[in-house]
Amino acid sequence: MKLDFLAELGIQASNSGAFTGQWRQTTGGELTVRTPIDGSVVARIQQATAADYAAASAAAHAAFLRWREVPAPARGDYVRRIGDAFRQHKEVLGRLVTLEAGKIVQEGLGEVQECIDIADFAVGLSRQLYGLTIASERPYHHMRETWHPLGTVGIITSFNFPIAVWAWNSMLALVCGDACLWKPSHRTPLCAIAMTKIAAEVLGAEWAPLVSLAIGPEAAVGSAMLDDPKLPLVSATGSTRMGRIVGPRVAQRFGRSLLELGGNNAIVVLADADLDLAVRGIVFGAVGTAGQRCTTTRRLLVQTSVIDQLTERLQRAYAQCRIGDPFEPTTLVGPLIDAGAASAFEHAVATAKAQGGKVVYGGKRAAVPQALAGGTYVEPTIVRAPLGVPIANEETFAPILYVMPVDGVEQAIAANNAVPQGLSSAIFTGNVRAAERFVSTAGSDCGIANVNIGTSGAEIGGAFGGDKETGGGRESGSDCWKTYMRRQTSTVNYGTQLPLAQGIKFGDA
Ligand code: UN1
Repeated sequence: MKLDFLAELGIQASNSGAFTGQWRQTTGGELTVRTPIDGSVVARIQQATAADYAAASAAAHAAFLRWREVPAPARGDYVRRIGDAFRQHKEVLGRLVTLEAGKIVQEGLGEVQECIDIADFAVGLSRQLYGLTIASERPYHHMRETWHPLGTVGIITSFNFPIAVWAWNSMLALVCGDACLWKPSHRTPLCAIAMTKIAAEVLGAEWAPLVSLAIGPEAAVGSAMLDDPKLPLVSATGSTRMGRIVGPRVAQRFGRSLLELGGNNAIVVLADADLDLAVRGIVFGAVGTAGQRCTTTRRLLVQTSVIDQLTERLQRAYAQCRIGDPFEPTTLVGPLIDAGAASAFEHAVATAKAQGGKVVYGGKRAAVPQALAGGTYVEPTIVRAPLGVPIANEETFAPILYVMPVDGVEQAIAANNAVPQGLSSAIFTGNVRAAERFVSTAGSDCGIANVNIGTSGAEIGGAFGGDKETGGGRESGSDCWKTYMRRQTSTVNYGTQLPLAQGIKFGDA
């Protein structure tokens, strides 16, 4: 595999896994980075120790204390230049995402674009961190609400979006006046090193600790982060199992957590839907990123009269999806992240069959050329299943789509909401009543509810996240910046008396 592009990103054969404003000499044991494409070794990381973590946290905090006093638009100017640097390196960063996460190049580039977009968004935001002025009930008083920087934001990210989720958090955090301390997935450390190098170079020696990094084992880094009182906010993306640990641990010390956990996203297709659109939305949602997005379409709830027709069209579309090397421009399905993911895929397919499901497309590991034999590739899979089949309540991080019948929009909404997760959902219909019902109070209970587009591929401008076992966090666009700041209410008396609120008379005063 040609790896010469890594040099352009400052990646070497062996790399330090701890950045505190400078790259530290670490002794936390070696992490071997393999690409899921063919399993070959790409680089090595010297992991952070608990002492490296502590140094990163201290450096970030010291930088925060100064950074919070830099005017927000001036902070935005740094973020503007970081966004420009992402633009400049878009091609190579996209290739690095492909190399480490295994997603196809188009999707790797799309991920870099998300980083650019959120940087642009944050720049605008740096002049719009608005608070309210509030009418006081007392004469010659005014009240106002100010948003102040919070501190260091701990950012825990997953392999499947190895750069974008850090960018959603860090670009907002920086304009909000916060520092960042990143713990990336141990499967995608090179992406983290590359992004850190790019941001740190723009920030310069004075501000580089604002993008601190600690790549290391759970005990040394992850666990320390959860208990670190210097991190008022921990933003964590990963499994629901992980969220069950992070949420209570951070709450224990009255820290704030922003959780973005599992999804089990459904697309509803009603009989009057434009099936051409639906097929395209479903294939991108179910097959894209080899089914390893938290927004991946995992369930299809189809009105009975079109279920056979739609399934056949999907089978034909799936047959066009080339599986293989994600660097090949014609490939649509790359590898799963590792052998464990392939086992989970096989287990889910077997369980679905045992529960009455019928595999109508795929269902097996994919045959790939010898050169890719060290990777794990599976066939995108369609399972026809009875409504309510238990396996469809689980999120399996693989391209398995359960197709289930519904009799209309009400049953579809009930089925959509019947799973423990609540991230993304969509309906395809030409009927405005059904569409509006789906996004109404009594409709989808997900954080994202779309009409005539799929469940994945959200724009950065909206708030991203979901409820129930998805964790309740919202990040990226809209007013999500508020999570990265602390709110202060100030009442100012410019009169000569001291009237008390609620009309209270206290003594003679
Ligand atoms: C994720 O899978 O963790 O909406 C994030 C999407 C992407 C982000 C996915 N913009 O599919």
